This record gives sequence, structure tokens and C-alpha cells, in this order.
Amino acid sequence: MTRHEIIVGTSSDMSVIATGSVDLIVTSPPYPMISMWDAVFCEQDPAVGEALLGGDGMEAFRKMHRILDGTWKECDRVLARNGFVCINIGDATRTIQDEFRLYPNHARIIQKFMEMGYSVLPDIHWRKPSNAPNKFMGSGMYPAGAYVTYEHEYILVFRKGGKRHFNGAERLVRQKSAYFWEERNEWFSDLWDIRGTSQTHAGTLPGRERNASYPLEIPYRLVNMYSVEGDTVLDPFAGLGTTGLACMIANRNSIGYDIDAEIARAALSNMDRGVDVLNAVIDSRLKRHLEFLEGLSDEERSRCYRNTHYAFDVKTKQETVIKIDRLCQIRKTKSGFICRYDNSDSLQDGDFNT
Ligand SMILES: C[S@@+](CC[C@H](N)C(=O)[O-])C[C@H]1O[C@@H](n2cnc3c(N)ncnc32)[C@H](O)[C@@H]1O
Repeated sequence: MTRHEIIVGTSSDMSVIATGSVDLIVTSPPYPMISMWDAVFCEQDPAVGEALLGGDGMEAFRKMHRILDGTWKECDRVLARNGFVCINIGDATRTIQDEFRLYPNHARIIQKFMEMGYSVLPDIHWRKPSNAPNKFMGSGMYPAGAYVTYEHEYILVFRKGGKRHFNGAERLVRQKSAYFWEERNEWFSDLWDIRGTSQTHAGTLPGRERNASYPLEIPYRLVNMYSVEGDTVLDPFAGLGTTGLACMIANRNSIGYDIDAEIARAALSNMDRGVDVLNAVIDSRLKRHLEFLEGLSDEERSRCYRNTHYAFDVKTKQETVIKIDRLCQIRKTKSGFICRYDNSDSLQDGDFNT
């Protein structure tokens, strides 16, 4: 069973969450110096608005990050030792008082986590190609006044303390939570080519136009990469609850914070999907594995191992007890959902093979 909650309030005060009780943080904050987020920062500190009006871009950048710092400090308090933090952030380009420049959000956040004593781990470039005809900025074909177009964002990865150790029963949970070899090869590459949000459901929700949801694939991968079943995942900037949704599918508990009550309501609506919709994500993951197996040569196939639950081949011994529990019930609560999973050890033939 897992629990999923959306809390309305600023994540610079998450006092209802016990110290050290969160295993993983997956989030995407409002991006400093991207104009769609100006109002959100100004509401939290009017001095941001004064800096922008006064044409002092760097001062506005500094003040916006100081607001985010309040949340990072609380994240540090609630995160367990050896826990991970994954932050999706884009840098901003902006012209203020005729001066065009880059505001390096990712560098500023890395600096903050280094100051807090975290290990900085290799990050991921999420490539989001733009087809906009006017995507190139500046002096066109004339040299020395044109600017490179940014078509990527970052997923920064930090760890608090050293490696996490799994003892006793935890080791079994870890083995069951493993991912497939071919998923490892894709997920642990530093370049992710994933189209912008594909949440068709989210597109119809109030607040969507004021939000910037990441595609479900992003938190779903991160949750599988950096936590195990039954862990608790926090998103301090929950938006439409995409991280929570990924956790419902991945059998992890989740807590989301959003400062905007309307967006928090929209998150609960976005997360309110049927069991079948969520299980379809698991089914397509298993289907992709079967397709991967079909592409192997006989020789490669002969070197495979057998997964004990699904009775299909896997590339390595580490994958032999993977089992991705399917959801069997989702119950709504006042501020979220409770999910139950099919923990039985037998899966009907064809459950995912369609
Ligand atoms: C980039 S969006 C997150 C989008 C989310 N990843 C999704 O997939 O929908 C950032 C969110 O942070 C919220 N926010 C901004 N400042 C906040 C704060 N101090 N505490 C909590 N939420 C905040 C905004 O209302 C917005 O919904």
C-alpha cells in the first residue's frame, strides 16, 4: 500500500514532515528569470519586483534564488541520510535594459547544494528540441551578435552523505525494484531525448497554462533510478502532481507541496486516474522489454538469465527477481490517494503482452 498527499503551502516550511523521513526528492522549481514565474517570486518577496523594475537583472536573480534556498534548506532537513535529490531546472536567457544575458540557474543550485555539504553527482541533459521558426536570437547571419539557442534543461543529481546500504529484508526489496539492463543503458545516459509534456489529461486542467509540467517519463525514471519500492518521495514544487503520479505507478509513497491552492486542486484532479491508466505504464514497460528480447541474436539470447516471476529472459543476474507490482485499487482521501497493489506472485499470461 502507498499513500500520496498534496499539501497546500510554501515548501520553505514543511514542518508537518518529520526530519529525515524522506528517501528521495524529485522536483522542478519555478525557474528564476523566466518571466512566466516572475509573479510567483514577487508574491514571495516584493524586493524581486523592485529589482526587476529597477532593471537590475542580477539582483532579481539573486533574490529569486534566495527564495528557493528556503525550500532547499527544508529539503535538507526532511531528507534521510544517503537520500538523493533530483532537480529539473533550465537556465534563463533574458534581455533587461538592452542587456541580453544568460542567468545560470543550474550553476547557482549546484553551488547551494555544495554549500550544504551534498555530493554533486553526474547530471542529465534533458534535450527538448525546438521547432520554432524564430528560435535563433540576435544578429542573424551577421557575426558577433547572435546567440546560441538553448534546447536543453538539466536534471541535477545530489546525494546527502555516502552510499545507501541495504540490509536484511531491504536487500530483497532492492532486488525486486531493479530495472532492466536496457533501461539502465538508456536511463543512466547523460542525454535524455524526451519530448515536452505529453500529459494530455493535464492539458485540460485549470492552472495548466500557468504551469510547466514535466512529462511523466522524467519523474518515473528518476523514482525508479534513485529509490526502492515503499520509499517516500517528496516534490516540494508539486505543480500538477506529476511526481506523485509517477510514485503511484512505481509503488512509492509521495508528498507534494504547492503554494497555489488552485494548482494543488488541479494536481489532485490530474492524479485521479483509473487503475487501468496507471497500469498501462507498467504494461508498456514490460512490453518494451519483450521487444528488446526479440531484437537479441540467438547467441545473445543463450547468455541470458531467467526472471523467476515473469518467466522471460533478462540480460543479467541482477534482473532475475524484478517484479513490478500492478495497481489493483486507488482510493481517494481528503488530500490525496491510497493505492493498493497486486502483490500476488502469479501474473496471468497476457496481462502485459497486449
Ligand atoms: C515548474 S512548476 C512544477 C511543475 C511540476 N513538476 C509538474 O509536473 O506539474 C513549479 C510549481 O511550484 C509552485 N511553487 C512556487 N513557489 C513555491 C513554494 N515556495 N512552495 C511550494 N510551491 C511553490 C508553483 O505554484 C508551481 O506549481
